[in-house]
Amino acid sequence: MSNKTLVIRADSDNFEEELSKAASIIKEGGTVAFPTETVYGLGANALDPDAVKKIFAAKGRPADNPLIVHVSSKDQCEDLAEDINQTAFRLMDEFWPGPLTLILKAKKIVPEITTGGLDTVGLRMPANDIALELIRMSGTAVAAPSANTSGRPSPTSAEHVIQDLDGKIDAIIDGGIVEIGLESTVVDVTGDIPVVLRPGQVSAEDIKECVGHVEIGYTDRTLEESETARSPGMKYTHYSPETKVILIEGRPENVKSTMTELITNCHKEGKMVGLLATEETSGSINADEMFSLGKRNEPAQAAHSIFMGLRHLDSKEIDLILVDGTLKTEGIGAAVFNRLRKAADEIKKV
Ligand code: TXA
Ligand code: MG
Repeated sequence: MSNKTLVIRADSDNFEEELSKAASIIKEGGTVAFPTETVYGLGANALDPDAVKKIFAAKGRPADNPLIVHVSSKDQCEDLAEDINQTAFRLMDEFWPGPLTLILKAKKIVPEITTGGLDTVGLRMPANDIALELIRMSGTAVAAPSANTSGRPSPTSAEHVIQDLDGKIDAIIDGGIVEIGLESTVVDVTGDIPVVLRPGQVSAEDIKECVGHVEIGYTDRTLEESETARSPGMKYTHYSPETKVILIEGRPENVKSTMTELITNCHKEGKMVGLLATEETSGSINADEMFSLGKRNEPAQAAHSIFMGLRHLDSKEIDLILVDGTLKTEGIGAAVFNRLRKAADEIKKV
């Protein structure tokens, strides 16, 4: 593990040269964080077990949680997966490059450490030029989980990656703030009917429209040890700030009055409260810190803001974070609620 992390800025004059340096680091078995359209990823050569080990070490990630393998072309999939069916090909054609990970039967070439010991592998072709160029130049497939410390909110800027992983990885490519703000949709396409294991910008409805059917295979809570997880990630606490988080769902008037009451009570005890809320909800509420989720009917704005907002509020001297659950649940809204419910220590339905 390195103790000096090289920071490469996408707007620097010699970016091409720097990018090839980053690709060499991956070729030589090192770790490089890079932007994608969803969140920043922490990359290493997916086919080199020693390199992949460094990702798990830097993040403190449980060994049975598999990594998504990133490719720069659809053709590259044939080297990594077998029995790729028509459903998978259609989804690739429709959504790649883009925020969709396909779970396929793994070829032997993919090491166990990358698949978390499963016989499947998650493949994704990201819609980000820096990511695609890095993968292409490194001449291999790149395993990359989100570039955060395990359990913390996913990073949507290079600063977030630096907060968590500075000194623990070899390089970071700073490509500014990401476009979407939450992770890709994960879909199991090993059977006839695609099963959504993690919601994202590509919605279940989008998938159904493309291939005719879809099943939902996720819940919005962390699974118990005794439950079977179709995706190992479902068993682990996610997206959590250190500050206590309460998500309040229900009719807007009820959400507002519950928030006001909780804030009043906290203030009586000398406690400070942060608010992660839509414009419509936050208008009339007096919290000590505030981060906007944008407009209630535009969940894409919330998707872009939730991880940034949770990190921002967590860095403030506050005792409680209240989250507004009045957002629209359609489209990417389902993915926003999934992340918020998992981040919450408590959910109040009012
Ligand atoms: O948008 C994204 O997907 C980002 C960027 C960097 O591409 N990556 C990402 O990776 O979110 P990560 O490791 O934080 O989340 C991967 C999720 C985990 O929940 C993991 O359990 C699941 O995908 N997963 C990976 N391979 C799997 C497999 N073979 N079967 C089932 N689930 C799998
Ligand atoms: Mg992650």
